[in-house]
Amino acid sequence: MSILKKIEDFREEEERLKWEGTFADYLDLLKEKPWIAQTAHSRVYHMIKDAGVEEENGRKKYAFFSEQLYGVEESIEKLVEEYFHSAAKRLDVRKRILLLMGPVSGGKSTLVTMLKRGLEQYSKTERGAVYAIKGCPMHEDPLHLIPNHLRQDFYEEYGVKIEGNLSPLNMMRLEEEYGGRIEDVLVERIFFSEDKRTGIGTFSPSDPKSQDIADLTGSIDFSTIAEYGSESDPRAYRFDGELNKANRGMMEFQEMLKCDEKFLWHLLSLTQEGNFKAGRFALISADELIVAHTNESEYRSFISNKKNEALHSRIIVMKIPYNLKVSEEEKIYKKMIAESDLSHVHIAPHALKVAAIFTILTRLQEPKKQGVDLLKKMRLYDGESVEGYNSQDLEELKQEYPDEGMSGIDPRYVINRISSAIVRKQLTSINALDVLRSIKEGLNQHASISKEDRERYLDFISIARKEYDTIAKKEVQKAFVYSYDESAKTLMDNYLDNVEAYCNKNKLRDPLTGEEMTPDEKLMRSIEEQIGISENAKKAFREEILIRISAYARKGKRFDYNSHERLREAIQKKLFADLKDIVKITTSTKTPDESQLKKINEVIARLIDEHGYNSVSANELLRYVGSLLNR
Ligand SMILES: Nc1ncnc2c1ncn2[C@@H]1O[C@H](COP(=O)(O)OP(=O)(O)OP(=O)(O)O)[C@@H](O)[C@H]1O
Ligand SMILES: [Mg+2]
Repeated sequence: MSILKKIEDFREEEERLKWEGTFADYLDLLKEKPWIAQTAHSRVYHMIKDAGVEEENGRKKYAFFSEQLYGVEESIEKLVEEYFHSAAKRLDVRKRILLLMGPVSGGKSTLVTMLKRGLEQYSKTERGAVYAIKGCPMHEDPLHLIPNHLRQDFYEEYGVKIEGNLSPLNMMRLEEEYGGRIEDVLVERIFFSEDKRTGIGTFSPSDPKSQDIADLTGSIDFSTIAEYGSESDPRAYRFDGELNKANRGMMEFQEMLKCDEKFLWHLLSLTQEGNFKAGRFALISADELIVAHTNESEYRSFISNKKNEALHSRIIVMKIPYNLKVSEEEKIYKKMIAESDLSHVHIAPHALKVAAIFTILTRLQEPKKQGVDLLKKMRLYDGESVEGYNSQDLEELKQEYPDEGMSGIDPRYVINRISSAIVRKQLTSINALDVLRSIKEGLNQHASISKEDRERYLDFISIARKEYDTIAKKEVQKAFVYSYDESAKTLMDNYLDNVEAYCNKNKLRDPLTGEEMTPDEKLMRSIEEQIGISENAKKAFREEILIRISAYARKGKRFDYNSHERLREAIQKKLFADLKDIVKITTSTKTPDESQLKKINEVIARLIDEHGYNSVSANELLRYVGSLLNR
């Protein structure tokens, strides 16, 4: 679809969604769609829920967040259940400020932004529709028009509880513009938009001395005082603070704890009583979600100050720790790279995984459990199976440190190091070793890392490097076998022919020359030794295999490569062992002969076609593995 067509469709869609009517019409609508009267918190909760919830091993996974936030499902579940769900039910938590606390670059701002963008979209849907008194700068809830003494009756008829009082401005408009006839007051559907300052606000503190509370609650409009005669005329007031504008939706409070106390007190009153004081007016009711974020040290110093006690009890703190799974961390990097200007650079396979291994190690606490080291713990956390441990052990490991994930290396650091390596060396391709090297160099310049941490981190770089060595060797070996299954099958057939001749005391016939040969003892032993079968045990092992073959034959089944577990293992190991020498020689020779050159080219082609390398990174990989095997 062309962009112009899309623009047109969008405009038509906006037209289609518009709604305007009198308060009486609105009440009819409400009968039909009772959800349109929900509170801001309830709307946020339903927005999250409507996007879909998946249950996995008793854990809830919210699709709303999983598109952009990885590996933090447990914190998200807690946040949704303990805060949003309870708040949606009008429980007391709704009256507290939601404070997300987590380490730097741990996704707090991302989470808040998702909520904002989500609300903008949701307000355009049937279920997320929001209606407001027309022309009100605070998009006031139309139900505030119902006078207090009728609210019980209203509840009985509509089943909706009304909270909050009609604002001074709309009170005046009701009298002046509508002659007191509530049913005639115009109501319109509104659509949240941060750009248009409808239902979504952001407040970030600036210099505490110069910052004005007006930024939050609006201010007197001096140019109109003369017209209206008095400062306490609500028409002479601009209800354009962030708290006003965010009414019905949400307000993000950036760096809340860096803020001057007087600001915080305003917020307190708002959240606690659902209203705030502006100018010389009666309290203004507001219904909005307030989300702030902070890091742990800032939070600790805030609560250690006695003066902040009252504030503290009005805040709900939710921890947003780092992700602790290697595979999810890799996804985070991929996403960040895709969003950055690095997306044209070739990143060799495993480079991000190896970086993630390092990062996750810096975030994990030393396990207390017997026999588990940091690397095993890392694997268990990532859902890999580790011999001797099960999901029960995993849960126990998690219990050991409930605060895990609040420290360590942040994802932005890794991305910065990758980009610095690329920029500095003008690379068009970067591999795992480049990434680790750049991370290491960065550690020395990193001001906020203590000496002990630096030592630990350097260790983790070596561990990650060792992991990479294993991965790299396997990768090259795989690429060396033209067709792994084919080779395994040929080797096994050969072995079985020999075993059969050996057991039946027969001779074999050479398929090419037709000459008779004795069974190839050397070949059979070279396979059997791979799984530790001794000279004394070889006869029994070979006989057992023959019995298995005839048992298969009786049942009309074919004995193949997968029919005998230990034999399969032996064949596999033998293949890799044979390969090792070829790989070693081929990859490390400086002056390859013709056949070696051919092999190298084949392997490189396979790495490129099947394993995601480009020619630079494939050549680098081969050279590296060659040097590893010759150590
Ligand atoms: N768990 C995660 N899943 C996906 N992306 C993440 C995650 N954690 C961090 N990121 C990415 O890291 C970058 C930094 O995240 P963000 O700015 O949201 O962090 P923050 O907690 O607000 O940090 P700060 O404390 O510095 O303000 C973003 O690009 C974000 O997408
Ligand atoms: Mg942030």
